[in-house]
Amino acid sequence: MAASSRLISRLTLVTGGGSGIGRAVCQRFATEGASVIVADRNEESANQTLELLSRDHKGQDHMALGVDVSSKDSVEKLVTSIQCRYFQPASVCVNAAGITQDEFLLKMEEEDFDKVIDVNLKGTFLLTQAVSKALVSAGSAKGSIITVGSIVGKVGNVGQVNYSASKAGVEGLTRTAAKELSKFGIRCNCVLPGFITTPMTDKVPEKVIDKLTSMIPMGRMGEPAEVADACAFLASDDSRYITGVSIEVAGGLFI
Ligand code: CAA
Repeated sequence: MAASSRLISRLTLVTGGGSGIGRAVCQRFATEGASVIVADRNEESANQTLELLSRDHKGQDHMALGVDVSSKDSVEKLVTSIQCRYFQPASVCVNAAGITQDEFLLKMEEEDFDKVIDVNLKGTFLLTQAVSKALVSAGSAKGSIITVGSIVGKVGNVGQVNYSASKAGVEGLTRTAAKELSKFGIRCNCVLPGFITTPMTDKVPEKVIDKLTSMIPMGRMGEPAEVADACAFLASDDSRYITGVSIEVAGGLFI
């Protein structure tokens, strides 16, 4: 795809930016001219993404920071650090931090249910709240918050009662945030990836991957860059009259 510059001077915060979809979002946004803050629980992998951005997009002001999205304290520190470094809040936020802890419902431990809800759903709430508070108090004219749900939040998936519940919650959260934040010029939209080639799907047994792939009308798993493209559209002015929607990036899975 030809590089465009739809995101020039958009300060963009990407959580989960150290790998998978988050890393692809960082790369795509930098290609389109954004300054990217790569945030990840794993600081080493956030720094690796930063190195890629610094190598490929010299002259742009990117940075990497550690964050635990399930901790209010950590999220608030992240937002404050951005303000201090750039003298403005991030006007685009992509909530790509997410985890799985797969197990059948009958065997799942309470702790593994809580962990996934804490990162995927509460983490999205904490980030969305902190970023929008900063935008509103700065009187910023516009913002775009992008959440990462999942196709399995809509249709469920064997072995993912915790994850699919968290991702269904993310969609509901996004629609409500869109209703509340529109008056401040902040749009909120959700992308719903299907099965994408990432470290997350690397953990899935091969026999299950074969089963899942055979259900995808397009006949293959997706690439992180294909999700990043949808995020770039939602961050850009090309989607300026779009808020509260979910875009499936799933190769036609479950249509
Ligand atoms: N869909 C369909 N069938 C599944 C399945 C799934 N998601 N997960 C497991 N099964 C089936 C297996 O194929 C297997 O079938 P057979 O008995 O016919 O062989 C049966 O369930 C038992 O599975 P295991 O032998 O693997 O059982 P286990 O106890 O060793 O492991 C499990 C259970 C941890 C749930 C493991 O099967 C697993 O990891 N499943 C994958 C779950 C999954 O799909 N995760 C998606 C990760 S990607 C992601 O989350 C991103 C996103 O947004 C979609």
